[in-house]
Amino acid sequence: MKIAVIGSGGREHALLWKLSKQNEVKELIAIPGNGGTLSIASSLTPNGNSVEALADSIRSCKPDLVIVGPEQPLAEGIADTLMKSGIPCFGPSALAARIESSKVFSKELMRKYSIPTAEFEIFDDFDKLASFIRQNPCAYGRVVKADGLAAGKGAFVCSNDQEAIAVAKQLLVDDSLGAAGHRIVLEEKLFGTEASAHFWCDGEHFAPLPVARDYKRALDDDLGPNTGGMGTLCPAGHVSADMLSEIGETIIAPTLSAMQAEGCPYRGVLYAGLMLTDDGPRVIEFNCRFGDPETQVMLPLMQDNLIETMLSCIDGTLKTSTGSPAASGAAVCVVLTAEGYPGSYRKDIPLRTIENTGHTLLFHAGTTMKDGKLVSSGGRIFNAVGLGSDIETARLNAYQSAHSLLVSGLRFRSDIAATAK
Ligand code: AMP
Ligand code: GLY
Repeated sequence: MKIAVIGSGGREHALLWKLSKQNEVKELIAIPGNGGTLSIASSLTPNGNSVEALADSIRSCKPDLVIVGPEQPLAEGIADTLMKSGIPCFGPSALAARIESSKVFSKELMRKYSIPTAEFEIFDDFDKLASFIRQNPCAYGRVVKADGLAAGKGAFVCSNDQEAIAVAKQLLVDDSLGAAGHRIVLEEKLFGTEASAHFWCDGEHFAPLPVARDYKRALDDDLGPNTGGMGTLCPAGHVSADMLSEIGETIIAPTLSAMQAEGCPYRGVLYAGLMLTDDGPRVIEFNCRFGDPETQVMLPLMQDNLIETMLSCIDGTLKTSTGSPAASGAAVCVVLTAEGYPGSYRKDIPLRTIENTGHTLLFHAGTTMKDGKLVSSGGRIFNAVGLGSDIETARLNAYQSAHSLLVSGLRFRSDIAATAK
């Protein structure tokens, strides 16, 4: 089989790595991939940024399956376009991808179908929002979210009402995120522990992947700004098999029924970002794709045949599974970033690399080959993954790799998986 993976990050490198282990795979194409994917896949760069340009270049290489990494092409309809051309594409339609690409759509869906999530109000007018907050003061803070896609920079956890009003002003009046922030969701702040729960979905049925935990803040002790993710661990010890079943029953099953009822059945991987509160699991957000860097720790543990499972999601024949996912061992990922990330940072940092071993994997994110040398091309540069029979062993292995990869201009958090059970 010839398989193409859209995207250029560590998530896509991990997908290509997992696929490269499957016997039926004869050719892998990264669209466009990164400096690390070059050793396992050819690189294809579309002629332009539109979905049509992307679809054209994919049609030209006639893959048997296309896997979409990031949300943007899904939101713009790449799955619809490819499926119309007869090319199987793993990822939801543009209408179904609204579960991530529009927070307003996703929150209204959850309200309409009683799917547990934070309470919320929607605003497109700053004065109305400010007077709502003044009439309904809240002592413990709020969350303000831009409706549209904002590359992980659209959610603001505010510690008080003044801060929430200031953030809303930036979005609605000062246009800080452009059209993505012209409608906003004002949300109740939830308290608890977070978990990233992914489910294979074929429109009607679902099956869980192992649950991961993501470390989003830039600095140790969960300080500093939110990032795309500074590290992950899997399996998340704070989510028991019973809790995973509860999440399936109370969140995923009603969400799939809701999407069907709304005329946009959900096929692909559904990633529920959850807060495990004292009152049970609540949805923080839905994503229409694999998490990054969750994928880098989930895939190495999984025993699934990815291709079979993805094709069954596409054609509606997924075997429902409510039990624990087939996975063994533990994995921890430490993300090496450019100093300054998620703010401004340097590119073209000369990098050193290391070989995979039985207990470590290196996935590249923002790297590229320039004049025969590996240099950085993004904020998140490497994903150092450690494997082991338990989280502590996996953590030690991940940090050993991270230290070997550390060169001037790079940094990482030192507390990934430190407090995990
Ligand atoms: P999102 O982009 O919606 O995933 O939000 C990014 C991060 O903000 C989440 O991973 C949480 O840490 C935090 N967050 C978002 N919504 C809430 C909420 N309602 N209560 C508490 N924290 C939240
Ligand atoms: N790790 C967070 C995300 O993929 O959205």
